[in-house]
Amino acid sequence: MTQYAHITGWGMCVPEKKLTNAALAQMVDTTDEWIRTRTGISERHIAGNEDTTASLATEAALRALQVANLRPDKVDLIIVSTSTPEYIFPATACVVQDRIGATKAGAFDLLAACSGFIFALNVASQAIQNGTIVNALVIGSETLSRIVDWGDRETCILFGDGAGAFVLQGRNDPGGYLSGVMRSDGSGGDLLNLPAGGSKIPTSLATIHEGLHYIHMNGREVFRFATRVMVQATQEAVQAAQLTLDDIQLVIPHQANLRIIEAAARGLDIPLERCMINLDRYGNTSTASIPIAACEAVESGRLKAGDKVVFVGFGAGLTWGASVVQWSAPSEVKRKVRPERYRLLARLRSVLLRVIRHFEGLIWGQ
Ligand code: UT7
Repeated sequence: MTQYAHITGWGMCVPEKKLTNAALAQMVDTTDEWIRTRTGISERHIAGNEDTTASLATEAALRALQVANLRPDKVDLIIVSTSTPEYIFPATACVVQDRIGATKAGAFDLLAACSGFIFALNVASQAIQNGTIVNALVIGSETLSRIVDWGDRETCILFGDGAGAFVLQGRNDPGGYLSGVMRSDGSGGDLLNLPAGGSKIPTSLATIHEGLHYIHMNGREVFRFATRVMVQATQEAVQAAQLTLDDIQLVIPHQANLRIIEAAARGLDIPLERCMINLDRYGNTSTASIPIAACEAVESGRLKAGDKVVFVGFGAGLTWGASVVQWSAPSEVKRKVRPERYRLLARLRSVLLRVIRHFEGLIWGQ
């Protein structure tokens, strides 16, 4: 039987702390006016000491499960898309799996920078459509403030922290994920990268001294690339869904720069009002920007069940992609589930498993 991959839950979480342009102007040689006119950004949220990529992802995931009315132990797959994982390994997705008590889920991280959420959505939807799984959690989460050079005015004004999550469920009624496009061009890898900390340039005192553990970016080149591929990817995804742009109620683009979104709207010949824009309040949250914007679009009534929406993004890699989704209503509620309550049970389970593992080690290790 054909399964359609419906988005039945959505949730977001941003750190409490805000950083305004005025505050940034106290830190580097910039002005509120320059940042607003060149990027459209007014403020962004910045992780506090307690916030991490996994903690933001966990909150967003629990909120999405709440909307979907789905118990964490019904989730088959968790993908966390991030460029700022909790650790290099284990995967941030495994940390989330443990914290929410998704006892039956396979979990892994996906790294496609700002395009990551679109890639993750594609992978999870395919797994549902081919019948391998039924329920998936796709999360985009970033704490970019931890890898930003706060002395570099060309990058530190752009980025913010946050997380967004979707629950995807296989259902028989048509709709949900309609098409997807994923592209990459590694020849442009040097335009946006974090040089040190990998196997090529392991972290050392010298790499720290040279600031190679921070984001490095050629802004102008990334800008040029972005304006080109946003139009191309949107057109390809819409065509693959056998639709035209007239059938699309809303475009939710990666929130990097207002001028990039304006150029894409011009290139697609659609009014800017058909694009969701919230980067003024969040900055560029990389892979989290699309699900955060989607949550706010639902909240403000701009995205309703039955609407066809395009998600389109670009980022380091270089990577870019788009997907077309027919937005779904959450599944019918027979019995109200409170995923939040599973948090305590999940913690107890996690402690118990560690204790058992310890004793097993003592017994079998001898
Ligand atoms: O998710 C993907 C992540 N990356 C992106 O999306 C980045 C895409 N690129 C951009 O958004 C833009 O290129 C930027 C916002 C990064 C820069 O805007 P721009 O209009 O491309 O500026 P520019 O790099 O051409 O620089 C223009 C001038 C330069 O001064 P000179 O050489 O003309 O004297 C910069 O030094 O603006 C200067 N500048 C600044 N001035 C005040 C650069 N950053 C700042 C700043 N405040 N923060």
